[in-house]
Amino acid sequence: VASDGVREFALLADEGATEFKPGVSTTTWGFNGSYLGPTLAATIGEPVRVRVDNELAVPTTVHWHGMHLPAEMDGGPHQVIDPGRTWSPSWTIDQEPTTLWYHPHVHGETEEHVEMGLAGMFILEPPDPGRFGLPHRYGVDDIPVIVQDKQFTDAGQFTLSTRGFVGSLGDTVLVNGTAAPYLDVTTERVKLRVLNASSARTYRFAFDDGRSFDLVGTDGGLLEAPHRTGEVQLSPGERAEIVVQVEAGERPVLRSTAPDLGMPDAIAELNGGADTLDVLQLRAASALEPSEPLADRFADIPRLDESDAAEERHFEMDGLQINGQSMQMHTVNEIVEVDTVEVWAVRNRMQFGHSFHVHDVQFQVLTIDGEPPPPELAGWKDTIYTRPGVQYRLIMRFEDYTDPDTPYMYHCHFLAHEDAGMMGQFTVV
Ligand code: C2O
Ligand code: CU
Ligand code: CU
Repeated sequence: VASDGVREFALLADEGATEFKPGVSTTTWGFNGSYLGPTLAATIGEPVRVRVDNELAVPTTVHWHGMHLPAEMDGGPHQVIDPGRTWSPSWTIDQEPTTLWYHPHVHGETEEHVEMGLAGMFILEPPDPGRFGLPHRYGVDDIPVIVQDKQFTDAGQFTLSTRGFVGSLGDTVLVNGTAAPYLDVTTERVKLRVLNASSARTYRFAFDDGRSFDLVGTDGGLLEAPHRTGEVQLSPGERAEIVVQVEAGERPVLRSTAPDLGMPDAIAELNGGADTLDVLQLRAASALEPSEPLADRFADIPRLDESDAAEERHFEMDGLQINGQSMQMHTVNEIVEVDTVEVWAVRNRMQFGHSFHVHDVQFQVLTIDGEPPPPELAGWKDTIYTRPGVQYRLIMRFEDYTDPDTPYMYHCHFLAHEDAGMMGQFTVV
């Protein structure tokens, strides 16, 4: 914390080498290290400033995914950091406590920059992180789980696979940059902050022994109550906070079983719909420290009301475009009036899956094909998987931060699709 009370972070992007497989050196990019970046953490209400140095040979950007902040600080395709240059955005944390992340957003190159290793977690903490009995000791019982699938060449370098339409699907899972990972668990309960930081793969996380766990939070904050379940599905960019209970000596494996992609079987199979992958083994110690019980209710989520909406916009995803348009750096597609509530109705008109992500805001899901959302989609979200043919009606409030000259983005978060132009821009005025 600087003398003026601002919490300061420094990120330096550079190329390096990482040993994922013993004895094999892979060329990678990272922040403050050879692969991925440090976990940043700030408290609600805190002013923050990040110094980002770009030591790569190419321009990049750093976007704060899920963060409510002024458009100029967003780190989208317009906030380019040239090689050798520094960018120092600052803002005040003004949203619900949750798990966010940061990653580059250079137009047309996002997949490459993220695949090379530029990504990290950004945790927003409440003033009382132990509330509701939630495990909250970072690295002890509160664990970042950044999940990525990678494809390696025979020479051990990253490459992209070309199976299917969603983008590159790798056959090797990395958690926090480690292949075949395990976690030593020393407490009865552990909270996993699971982030799908993959370019294209959707995971359906479940334990090999079928045990249930509590889904406590999604992209933008806690649910109203823990949701007891055996599985949680995350498409690229989505997060889930889960609390898992273990007994001494147990070794359950978190794995991804065949996800429900909503595509015809043959198409799903080409897009990872039949894949099972081990993600993370938990190794419980022979004696475990007791954990507090989890509250059975958290806090009510104030519901945005459709009758307050000033506007309903439609977004049709087809032909790797949105509303028949590809992302153009100098075209603002939608202009939103500040301090209004809007409904965004999103429909995927293609045969395979997409997702929809909106910058600046967290939204609530009103309906999915006219039905209320299931518990796992009933909290704050910034990214949602969109099944072929299905309409998702999302509601959001654009509180503040007007800027007629600097747009925010909305896009499919399958990074190859985003790079191909499946993205649009909006300003808040
Ligand atoms: Cu995670 Cu527009 O991005
Ligand atoms: Cu984002
Ligand atoms: Cu897509």
